[in-house]
This record gives sequence, structure tokens and C-alpha cells, in this order.
Amino acid sequence: MTVITTIEDLRVLAQKRVPRMFYDYADSGSWTESTYRANEADFQKIKLRQRVAVNMENRSTATKMVGQDVKMPVCIAPVGLTGMQSADGEIKAAKAAEKFGIPFTLSTMSICSIEDIAQNTQAPFWFQLYMMRDREAMAAMIERARQARCSALVLTLDLQVIGQRHKDLKNGLTAPPRPTVANLINLMTKPRWCLGMAGTRRHSFGNLVGHVKAVTDMKSLASWTNEQFDPRLSWPDVAWVKERWGGKLILKGIQDVEDARLAVQSGADAIVVSNHGGRQLDGAQSSIEALPAIVAAVGDQIEVWMDGGIRSGQDVLKAWALGARGTMIGRAMVYGLGAMGEAGVTKALQIIHKELDITMAFCGRTHIADVDRSILLPGTFPT
Ligand code: GLV
Repeated sequence: MTVITTIEDLRVLAQKRVPRMFYDYADSGSWTESTYRANEADFQKIKLRQRVAVNMENRSTATKMVGQDVKMPVCIAPVGLTGMQSADGEIKAAKAAEKFGIPFTLSTMSICSIEDIAQNTQAPFWFQLYMMRDREAMAAMIERARQARCSALVLTLDLQVIGQRHKDLKNGLTAPPRPTVANLINLMTKPRWCLGMAGTRRHSFGNLVGHVKAVTDMKSLASWTNEQFDPRLSWPDVAWVKERWGGKLILKGIQDVEDARLAVQSGADAIVVSNHGGRQLDGAQSSIEALPAIVAAVGDQIEVWMDGGIRSGQDVLKAWALGARGTMIGRAMVYGLGAMGEAGVTKALQIIHKELDITMAFCGRTHIADVDRSILLPGTFPT
């Protein structure tokens, strides 16, 4: 067996072990996937400045995100259907994050429920909310997050309508998979996954089934998003969520300086510069390219984070250097989970942390708080 040393190693293993429709679901962007690719590629263009003969002892990557201590400026992004990458996947990822010392965010479109995470972890986690048409269910969901002692709500603003991901349509994505001949043949090659799933009852959208009505096919992500996600979502709805929740609020999916200013006015605690991992508006800027202008406009008024394309600790360091005060990792976590369950998520976090720590040292810094854009080679980074 190969020794796992990179997120790419985990991706390759996940692709072997996870049924094709769920691997494809995670490893996809919308339409031509140009934004999906740019998210990663634009990180590669940024060059670091090596410094030498600097005392590199006693380093720390620890900081705070919305006032909470984190071992590094990284949290787990909300990812739909995580519990289809591996049985009880959200519980496994939440446990790995808790042990490591970073926050876990549970997606509305998760397989394990808010209550499942609360029962299986001690650390407060974050809950990601999609605005649904059923406002009663929304209010109930916010209340469930409160009961589960979630310490922040992450409201996603960029998925009122869903961007087309060709593979999901071609694969007929559902949770659980339908027993078609093609699916059964594919599942026969994934014994580890099947064994895991045989040992849990969590096979569909655990947060929603039984809580939200008026969806024709409860197993289909497409019918949930098309029939229940609210295309009318606008800033007064953000205010409604903020008032109902009353706690820390993070707005995810900001790409434009004007929207960043409106987010500040809304009174949110943090924004996530994000194009939804290249899964929504294909042709949009990469997140790392969009970040600096937003930091320049509002970075002194609100915590600015980013996600999209982070596959290494070097990417985290570059985002931090450009002003992000936190990052979210989605696919890096999913690959770890699909490859090796909880241990794989832990591995992904260890890989990212080590790369971050050692790269910081090579750049002549011992504390993340002392890292700014002076570690980057001028002319190689977006401004
Ligand atoms: C959201 O649920 C997505 O699939 O991107």
C-alpha cells in the first residue's frame, strides 16, 4: 500500500473506494468546470519568498475564527452528501475535526442530522443553512441548531438555483443510489463502502426528511434544490435569519465587493469569499483572485475568509497572506473521508497543518499572526 503524504494520494484512494456517483458529485464543477480548475490553478501561480538564517523554533499556526480558538486558520466546509462518501461520514469528519482542534460545519444537505452530530461530539460545531421556501421548517431548523449548541450559523447565499453539473445528471445522483444495473455493477467494486453502509441506517438527507415537506423525490438532491430552495432569497431574508438565530452569523458565497459591503451592513460576523468550489457560476473568478479586493474593501470591518481550491497548507498560507482570516476545506476533507473514513480526515488535516507550518518557517515566520503579503513574491499574486 502506498504511503499517504498528500491530499492527492487521498483523492486517488477515494476514487477507488467510493461509488462513482458520489466521487463524481464531489469532484465536479458546473458546466465547463473552468472556475473549478481556476480555484486550484491560481494558487499555483503565487510564488513564495524564501528567507534564511531566521530562528524557526517555537512556531504556531493557532488563531481564532469568529472568536473561537483554532489550531490553524482552517475549518471543515459544509459539503452535501458527506455521509455517502463513507457511512456516517459527517459524524466521522466532525470527530476528526474535534480531535484536531478546528471547527466542523454540517451542511443542510447532509446525511447525518444536526442531532446525530450533537450526540457524537462534545465540541460545538457550526451549521450551514440553505434558505428554503418552507419558512416554518427554516425556523425549526434554526431552533434545532440552537438546541444542538451550534456556535455559529453559516448561511449560504450562492445557491438559490443550482449550477448544472453534468456528471450528476448522467449518473442519476440520489441518496441512496437507485438499484439500477449500472449502479449495482459499480457498487460491487466498492465492498468496503457497502459494508459500511450496511452498518448504518443513515442513507438519505437526515436533516430534511421528516422535517421539510413538498418535495416529490426525497432522495434526489436535484428535486430538493429545484423544488425547495428559495430563489427569492434577498437581504431582508438574511436579516430574518440573523434575528431568529441571534448568534454568530457567517455569510458564505461572496465574490463581489458590492456584496461584501452589503454583508457588512447586514451585521454578519464573517464572510466567506467563495464560488461554491466552482460548482455554481462557471466563468466566475477563482476565489483566491477575488479575495484581495474584498479584503481591501471590508477587511477592517468584518472577518474575511475564503474557500475554493485549497489542496495544501501552502494554499492556506497564501490565502492568509492575502488577508483571509480563515479558510474552509471541502474536497480535501471528502477525499480523506472516502479514502479512509475518520482516519483519512485526520490525515488530511495533518497533511495541511504540516505543510502550513513548514512553509511558514521557510518564509522566515514563526507565528501565523506575523504572516502578511510580504512573504509573497511581488507580481505573482492578485491584488
Ligand atoms: C451543494 O449542495 C452542492 O452540491 O454544491
